[in-house]
Amino acid sequence: MISSEIEWNKLPFAYVPTDYNLRCRYVNGKWGELEVSSSEHIHMHMSATALHYSQEVFEGMKAFRGSDGKLRLFRWRDNLARLNLSCDGLLMPTVPESLFEKALREVIRLNTRFVPPYGTGASLYVRPLMIGTGARIGVDSSDEFLLVIFVMPVGPYFPTGFKTVDVQMVRDYDRAAPLGTGRLKTGGNYAASLKPAKRAHDEGFKTVIYLDAREKKYIDECGPANFFAIKENKYITPDSTSILQSITNMSLCTLAEDMGLTVERRRVPVEELSEFNEVGACGTAAVITPIRSIQDRETGASYKYDEQPGPWCKKLYERLQAIQYGNQPDKFGWTTEIEG
Ligand code: PLP
Ligand code: COI
Repeated sequence: MISSEIEWNKLPFAYVPTDYNLRCRYVNGKWGELEVSSSEHIHMHMSATALHYSQEVFEGMKAFRGSDGKLRLFRWRDNLARLNLSCDGLLMPTVPESLFEKALREVIRLNTRFVPPYGTGASLYVRPLMIGTGARIGVDSSDEFLLVIFVMPVGPYFPTGFKTVDVQMVRDYDRAAPLGTGRLKTGGNYAASLKPAKRAHDEGFKTVIYLDAREKKYIDECGPANFFAIKENKYITPDSTSILQSITNMSLCTLAEDMGLTVERRRVPVEELSEFNEVGACGTAAVITPIRSIQDRETGASYKYDEQPGPWCKKLYERLQAIQYGNQPDKFGWTTEIEG
């Protein structure tokens, strides 16, 4: 694809081929050299552990072209920390910081022509993934792994952009178990979410809210994003052992506190939904997606919020984006300037 053909302000959140990706193999107990590849494909053994037993982890982060022309990558060290938590949870080797940073800088520099210009609302999504490549047929860990990092220009995950969405709360599916892999960013959690997500789309909803798997009393996760709510000058977000620790949510907690809200990370009972002034989903892809209604698929209960994004959703969204695009000082040290 020629980058001049891309309509930057109409980009969906979808795969776009770029020029290069970076790869690194882990063999004989150590990481090898970084390799630049122009192939979109991976050649691997049909019995690789990633294919059978989901020995796979991934990450997602974004780089933003600022009004000053600089390119800033958001909180990559936090993504690396979570990647390594996921690796540890699936018996995969962790990735050294120096290797990860070198690969990130290189893959972005090599694909600079795909970085969306400032003012288009789009950004460069960076997707690292690691797979077990060793052949096994008994359930076992591989001892060989492949790390791949690729990038693509993306627009908003929910095509509505910064507009409110309707979501469906389900009780007949769980995304992850309380002591399972929900805290890890691994494909299995997403596989478990495909069917309820498709059903929710078919029934007219943008995504699914899962409840805690044990008691079905508390809000857990909101599709590929964390859930948050605002009431009485408080920013409230679920504490749970089965949700992914969202870096966007961590950032919003910090910003909320900085802007005068009290932050509560705690269990969020379903009944409390009727007490919130604003609710939303947050994540790298979702950014902040304000929620207009939550429909409980089983009971038919419906929780309604404003048609328009609420004032706190707006303020938090604007503040976060101002830091990401370099329009406000990065007083928390979240961004890293990247050549490109
Ligand atoms: N929850 C799930 C299940 C996700 O896939 C994501 C996306 O990464 C998030 C939450 C948000 O996390 P982050 O803000 O780090 O992107
Ligand atoms: C992200 O927000 O980076 C994600 O990984 C969401 C993705 C599963 C679509």
